[in-house]
This record gives sequence, C-alpha cells and structure tokens, in this order.
Amino acid sequence: MQGSGLFRRKDIAPPEGEGQQLARTLSWPHLVALGVGAIVGTGILTLIGVGADKAGPAVIMSFVIAGVICACAALAYAEMATMIPTSGSAYTYSYAVIGEVIAWVVGWSLILEYTLVVSAVAVGWSGYAAPLLSGYLGVPMSLMQGPELGGIVNLPAIGIIAVVAGLLLVGTKESATLNALLVVVKVIALIVFVAVALPYFNHAHLEPFSPFGFAKSMGPDGVERGVMAAAAIIFFAFYGFDAIATAAEETKDPGRDLKIGIVGSMFICIAIYVAVAAAAVGAISYTRFANSPEPLALILRELGQPGAAQYLAASAVIALPTVILAFFYGQSRIFFVMARDRMLPSSLAKLSSRGAPVRITLFTATVVSLLAGFVPLGELAALANAGTLAAFVAVSACMLIMRRRAPDMARAYRTPLAWVVGPVAILGCLYLFISLPQKTQLWFLMWNAAGLVLYFLTMGIRRKAEA
Ligand code: ALA
Repeated sequence: MQGSGLFRRKDIAPPEGEGQQLARTLSWPHLVALGVGAIVGTGILTLIGVGADKAGPAVIMSFVIAGVICACAALAYAEMATMIPTSGSAYTYSYAVIGEVIAWVVGWSLILEYTLVVSAVAVGWSGYAAPLLSGYLGVPMSLMQGPELGGIVNLPAIGIIAVVAGLLLVGTKESATLNALLVVVKVIALIVFVAVALPYFNHAHLEPFSPFGFAKSMGPDGVERGVMAAAAIIFFAFYGFDAIATAAEETKDPGRDLKIGIVGSMFICIAIYVAVAAAAVGAISYTRFANSPEPLALILRELGQPGAAQYLAASAVIALPTVILAFFYGQSRIFFVMARDRMLPSSLAKLSSRGAPVRITLFTATVVSLLAGFVPLGELAALANAGTLAAFVAVSACMLIMRRRAPDMARAYRTPLAWVVGPVAILGCLYLFISLPQKTQLWFLMWNAAGLVLYFLTMGIRRKAEA
C-alpha cells in the first residue's frame, strides 16, 4: 500500500493468496471473441430504434460520436490493462493509481453497469424471442413482458439468465469457446442485414436529417431528444471490451492478448455498426421502426424480405446470450476482486474446485433476474450507461496520471496521442453523462451515495481485519 487514508493506493501486483488465484486459460482469440461477443448485442439490435426516435436519421451521427468516445476510452483501457493485468479492470486501476475511495466509487459503478447490462440484454433477447415463443409454444404475451408494457413478468428474460449462470458455473474456458461460435452467428446476421437493406437506400428517408437538433432538449411529450440524447443511449451498443480487461488475470500473455483483444474487437464493431445504422435509416423512414422491440427484423419485413427477417431474429435469439455471458462473467470477477480486497465480504470470493466463484454467480443471477423480470429496457440501459461512463472517466484519468507519475514504467501497449485521446475520452464521457435522461442521472447519484454510506460504515471493520 502507498499513500494513506481515503487515498491509499494498492501496489501494482496481484496478491498471491491460496485458492484465490484465477487459472490462466485464455488467449487473444478468446478475448476478441469475448469482446465482440460482449459488444454486439441489444444496442445495435434493439436500442437503434430508441436512438432513431431521439435523433431521427441523425442517429448515424450518434453512432459515430458514441463510437469515437468509446474508442478513445478503449485505447486508454488497453494501456491500463497491459500495465496492470489483474482482474477488476477500472476498479483495480483506480485503486492502484488514484486511491481507495475513488476505487470504491468505480467498483460500485461497475457493479451497477454489469448488473444492469445483464438484465437489459436479457430483456432485449426476450423482445426477439417472444414472437417465436408465442408462435410455437403458445406462451401468453403477459408472461413475456414486464409491467410497464402491460405484462405481468418477463419470464423468457429470467430463463435466459438462468441458462447463462449455469454455463458460468461449468467453467470459464468451455463458456468462452461456445461464445466464439455464437459470435460468428451474430456478426453474419448483421452483415446479411446490411447486404439486404442497403440496396433499398433512399436519400429521401434522410430528410430532415436532424429533426430534434444536436444537444439534449425536452420535447413537448416529456421525452428528452437530440443527437446527443441518442448518443447517450446508443453508447450502450459500444461497450463490452471492458469485459475483456476484467479477464486480464486469466490470460496467458497479457501484453499481447489484451492489446489485440480490446483494440481489435472495438474497431470491428464500429465498422459494422455504422454500416448497419446507415442501411437502416436509408431503407425506410425511421418513424416506422423507432421504439420497436425488434427494429432490424421489422425493417427487413417492411422491405418485403420475411425470410431474412426471420433469419435475423433467430440469430439474435441464438447469439444475444453471448453478451449476457460476457457481462455476467465480468460482474462475478468485479465482486471477486473487491471481496479479495476486503471491500466486500471475503466469503463471497470463495472459488469452487473448477475455479468458478459460485456464491457470487448465484447472488448475481438472483438480482439480475428480478430486474429483468420487471423493469423496462430503456431505463435499464440508460442507468447501465451512467455506471459505465463513470468507469471510463476513471480509466482515462488513470492512464494520464500514470503517464505523468511513471512515464518510464513498462507498458506492453501505449495509447497513441495520449494527451489528445485521454482528454477526448474524459470530456466525451462527461458530455454523454449530461445527455442522459435527468431521471437516470438522479438514480446514478443515489446509487453512489448509498455506496459511499456503506463504504464509510464498513471502514472500521475493514481496518480492523487488516490490523
Ligand atoms: N454493447 C452491448 C450491447 O449492445 C452491451 O448489448
């Protein structure tokens, strides 16, 4: 430990504790698959509709803005992940670079992010699965939607969470290999979408291009709109590479594997998304798919391509669980590392004989199921974004601080133009945060206020245990 009090800092080296070290089973192809698996999901498949509702055809700009900010943060992440290749990502970096209390806020925000992403994507999955389940099995819609949409409970969302939790309990490597196969399914489905929709591109659908302006503003219907309001939601579509960083301690060659995993998966996704967004808003008027629970399938149907629509929906149903898997995995690792640091009860960090943190996985499964069963997708996604933005600001700040504090320390990867990329990431994330719905910002502040109360209440216990 260095420094003192609230700002004491953890040494940059993983502790060697009995039974507390995760096995090194992953290499870069696993990580690129884990990255693309975590990034491509409900954001591009479902929230593209919410984004179009907020920005009109200018949702293409929202994709570019969110993508550029996310890419800058990804570059900072890659540097920090290769410098501190231990589990815990933004939480661990903040603990080593800034200090304990900030690490707590970041860890607490990451818990919010991962929990809500798992729930949000399970709800998004259910949106594509519900028509199939009601068609083939006769499941009533009231059991496949939360109360906000007039249903009772979203059972498919809860079911898919149970399946993914089971996979994780079987062990990391098996799950990562299956994940890689499903990633291919998902990427091919998006390429098929672009190939089918792009020939229908009509410039008339882009007029007026930006009906709600650039900055967030409140509409007469009480909904906040604008290119930035859309970017703040679309941001959801881009993150997930940070789930790779949480696997750092389990990679065989962290320097090489993390660099290729993070940067590679990020750029693959930006290219695919901008193509999908342009194909979508050019094919039909955005008002026809805005806020649909399955916008890409709807666009293909409206273009008279029902076969392609069904193929896309089936691919989403088969492959979206990779996103749930990656974030679920990240969630249990954050808990694991925080518990190992005694920030959370250390009994939570107990590993099974297969190396899986069983208690944390079961606890997470329970909480995310409750949220997925009853809370609407838009609200889950917006709050998940708030948590993620906080973590990205912290990581970018850590990268810059370390460039000053230890410029010569070994880094397997150096962010290019660090003094441009870092500030763009920090200021961009802050701008996205203020572009989120006001209600979301309030929830986020309340979550962290509660977290800080817990931090100070448990501080005495932690210090005693250390003494
Ligand atoms: N980027 C992930 C998704 O869009 C969270 O589902």
